[in-house]
Amino acid sequence: MMILKKTSDLSAYIDNQREKGRKIGFVPTMGALHQGHISLINLSKNENDDTICSIFVNPTQFNNPEDFEKYPITIDHDIELLEAAGCDVLFLPSLEEIYPANFNNKRYELGKLDTILEGKHRPGHFQGVCMVVDRLLAIVSCDILYLGQKDYQQCLVLKKMIELEKLGVTITIAATVREKNGLAMSSRNSRLSDQEKKQALCIYQSLESLKKNIQPGDLTELKEKAINIISDAGFVIDYLDITDINLNPIHNWDGQINLIGLVAASTNQVRLIDNMMITS
Ligand code: PAJ
Repeated sequence: MMILKKTSDLSAYIDNQREKGRKIGFVPTMGALHQGHISLINLSKNENDDTICSIFVNPTQFNNPEDFEKYPITIDHDIELLEAAGCDVLFLPSLEEIYPANFNNKRYELGKLDTILEGKHRPGHFQGVCMVVDRLLAIVSCDILYLGQKDYQQCLVLKKMIELEKLGVTITIAATVREKNGLAMSSRNSRLSDQEKKQALCIYQSLESLKKNIQPGDLTELKEKAINIISDAGFVIDYLDITDINLNPIHNWDGQINLIGLVAASTNQVRLIDNMMITS
């Protein structure tokens, strides 16, 4: 695997591959890689001639400075995992490569996506995500961008950003990879003690309870039971919501439309998110 740190080197490589008519898949990450990330690499490898992964812990998307400072960095292990998965190029830029002095900061009109769920609880987060992915896509001109359903709202946000900026990139969304017990894999899980990891299962269990008990009609009681599973385990809930696939809240189900359950909850300053289709 080639490891490139300079934007100019990566652009030159990509121009060369493009001239040869090669199809390029791109997997942006913030590192501390796990099998969830690797599933995106595998998908890209199946569908493209070249797979590029980036690792960049993007400061502009962290609304909480402590979360940024404590974000896990495991670069040697990341490189091993990427090598084993057969990734072609790792882009490992410095802060200056991504945000040079002349960087032009813009605002993305994301509408309600910016103010609900993650947008509401992490002000500015999605502007930062759009800023970095827009910049990365300017450097990594790719055919397909690979994203995980684990960050469902991020997928909708980036789809909108790509439309707004007319970037003409296709998005493929990969299913959430979970530990055997159901806990969604996340870089932040490494900040949990063994005991907290067991408690964190409550998030998966709450989503499973929505899926198991969903009935047409009023959803208030179903939601309350799911919320109790999380608070009983000692996690503090930011939100537990049931929405349609466009993230419009649904309080009364007609028994027809597809629903998704979404949760954000934290323990001891570690904030986890998860979601699940609960009707299909
Ligand atoms: P990061 O959290 O490192 O995630 C990188 C990609 O891996 C995202 O598309 C995310 O949804 C996906 N992913 C994470 N956990 C997963 C799991 N358990 N199963 C499947 N996919 C999973 O998301 C970001 O980084 C950043 O916001 C980024 C898009 C790179 C912009 O900085």
